Amino acid sequence: MPIKSRIRTVPHYPKQGIMFRDITTLLKDAVGFRVMVNDLVNHYTGMKIDKVAGIEARGFIIGAALAYQLGVGFVPIRKKGKLPAETVGQEYELEYGTDKIEIHVDAIGRGEKILLVDDLIATGGTAEAAVKLIETMGGKIVECAFVIDLPDLGGRKRLEKLRHKVFALSEFE
Ligand code: PRP
Ligand code: ADE
Repeated sequence: MPIKSRIRTVPHYPKQGIMFRDITTLLKDAVGFRVMVNDLVNHYTGMKIDKVAGIEARGFIIGAALAYQLGVGFVPIRKKGKLPAETVGQEYELEYGTDKIEIHVDAIGRGEKILLVDDLIATGGTAEAAVKLIETMGGKIVECAFVIDLPDLGGRKRLEKLRHKVFALSEFE
């Protein structure tokens, strides 16, 4: 079952000209959800991973399921102002605006091997900001995993230039 067939495209959301790749149709499908998580679990089983870090909001759903299956802890990287304890933050530019993400300062220990997870990589701005936060904490990025890559927007190349490995389950124009 190709997971791509379960992902819905919503034209002109949240702005004119954006083709929004909507994973809610994949998540609500029991088989689709299972295949998505299993494909990631199969790729990462046997790799040394200490924690999965997921990016708000959709990266939480995928990252938490993956962390559970891999038997490791989950670290949330949240939009600004949401985490209760001491944080470090990083601003970044989006395909449609700017934002800031934060992580708890005690979320990741020095030298820990971290798998970064999000639903989608577009320009790579969000993922690059998350990578910086993890590295600030002394974490080592094992790989950056996405359900969807939008290669035309250059995010994968951007991460690869920074010498990070990228794994994606599907690509859209
Ligand atoms: C989306 C997506 C990624 C990011 C990718 O999140 O889930 O986190 O955009 O874009 P980029 O590669 O150009 O940085 P969004 O900012 O829409 O937030 P949400 O998940 O909280 O809705
Ligand atoms: N985040 C950035 N670009 C996106 C897109 N085209 N669809 C879904 N999420 C996105």
